[in-house]
Amino acid sequence: MEGGSNGFSNILSIQLLFIALCLFIAGSSCLKIGETCSSNSSCDAGLSCQSCSANGNTRQRCTKIQPLSPTSKVKGLAFNKYSWLTTHNSYALVDAESDTGSPLLSPRNQEDTITSQLKNGVRGLMLDMYDFMNDIWLCHSFGGNCYNYTAFQPAIKSLKEIETFLAANPSDIVTIFIEDYVTSPQGLTKVFNASGLSKYWFPVSKMPKNGEDWPTVDEMVQQNQRLVVFTSKSNKEATEGIAYNWKYVVENQYGNGGMIAGSCPNRAESPPVNTKTISLVLQNYFPTNPNITGVCLDNSAPLISMTNTCQEAAGKRWPNFIAVDFYQRSDGGGAPEAVDEANGHLTCGCDNIAYCRANSTFGTCDVPPIAPPPPAAAAGGNSQVPGGNPSNIASLDRKPVQLRWLFGTILMITLLS
Ligand SMILES: *[C@@H]1O[C@H](CO)[C@@H](O)[C@H](O)[C@H]1NC(C)=O
Ligand SMILES: *[C@@H]1O[C@H](CO)[C@@H](O)[C@H](O)[C@H]1NC(C)=O
Ligand SMILES: *[C@@H]1O[C@H](CO)[C@@H](O)[C@H](O)[C@H]1NC(C)=O
Ligand SMILES: *[C@@H]1O[C@H](CO)[C@@H](O)[C@H](O)[C@H]1NC(C)=O
Ligand SMILES: *[C@@H]1O[C@H](CO)[C@@H](O)[C@H](O)[C@H]1NC(C)=O
Repeated sequence: MEGGSNGFSNILSIQLLFIALCLFIAGSSCLKIGETCSSNSSCDAGLSCQSCSANGNTRQRCTKIQPLSPTSKVKGLAFNKYSWLTTHNSYALVDAESDTGSPLLSPRNQEDTITSQLKNGVRGLMLDMYDFMNDIWLCHSFGGNCYNYTAFQPAIKSLKEIETFLAANPSDIVTIFIEDYVTSPQGLTKVFNASGLSKYWFPVSKMPKNGEDWPTVDEMVQQNQRLVVFTSKSNKEATEGIAYNWKYVVENQYGNGGMIAGSCPNRAESPPVNTKTISLVLQNYFPTNPNITGVCLDNSAPLISMTNTCQEAAGKRWPNFIAVDFYQRSDGGGAPEAVDEANGHLTCGCDNIAYCRANSTFGTCDVPPIAPPPPAAAAGGNSQVPGGNPSNIASLDRKPVQLRWLFGTILMITLLS
């Protein structure tokens, strides 16, 4: 502050310079995870600009909304050796209106379309299906019946989005968890047939029944059996060949009962989470009533902590699916970070998949030694101090930051001298 208005204009020009540099070097985006931001486009790809006032973090900063691809570092493992980001009530969007035209009274759990979720790396979808108006609908209802004011839309609309994604991404695998209220004969089969998804169906006969590994993701891709579907109704396995969820997946308690720190009980329908004859582990972590303002807190340190608790409870098994509300919201790393951590442990024995070294032996990790230097703009003293870097996120990808920082410094000195 020594130079009065002169110093101020220097600070201003440094900031403008930094912004110009960002634009120059990284297109329109350049800020890393945890850095202060003003718009989504100022953050790197896979990040959004948000704050989390629920835990006192009112400074907007770049926040992770995409996990790394589980198969990006260690390829070709069994399907159950990966963790997949999963959305609870994937279809219940904040801005949804009922396709019936009635007001929609159901709670909302997500913000972006299934297409956008898939684009962001979501690979598990939880869908509630009902018989409704002579069709199968996605509803968030009660008593096993759908009503106009609890009906979102015909299921085929969402299923077609998934079909479009699988057709366009021939090495991706998607899992659907159906909360199944459908009683019409062959009702689910008909809607899956009509959506074009049946051709990707992973058959029940290939699902491990006694704790064995699943087929590898490579095999599933080669056979084009890239859609895994589970239903909550046991009889559908015999009548329609749809796998009964809790024969293949153990699951902890959902809702408030699943959010008590330090405890990871199974939900009533699931065998105990440490049942090793069941190969897949699903971790629910969302409150009974979705809370769009509180969720950024839940999806942050408490989620990571529960992931560790559930890993212990499940017999030292990391979750294959981590299911949350508002998956994009957190104070920095969120559910995508929890999935990256699970994938690190599962695929390469490291604390984060970002630390895995390609084609190396299990447990060989490249852990970044320290946090990156502050962005050049921190010199402006304008609250751009990156001290709020979430503790559980070491910055990945340090070199470009250092390079940019160096660049900025050199340019600054050149221009100001
Ligand atoms: C970033 O995008 C999300 C989702 O579209 C939006 O809710 C949020 O307000 C945006 N952030 C900023 C700072 O504009
Ligand atoms: C529910 O919505 C359908 C379709 O818009 C309409 O035909 C029907 O009358 C509505 N039923 C009630 C009870 O409002
Ligand atoms: C679904 O499609 C399969 C394969 O085309 C067909 O054999 C089956 O009859 C269809 N089922 C229903 C209920 O439409
Ligand atoms: C939602 O979260 C906010 C912030 O943590 C909290 O103040 C509020 O009580 C929560 N609402 C409900 C209904 O739990
Ligand atoms: C790892 O192995 C695969 C298959 O052998 C190969 O295609 C890939 O280039 C290797 N990656 C690295 C970084 O060595």
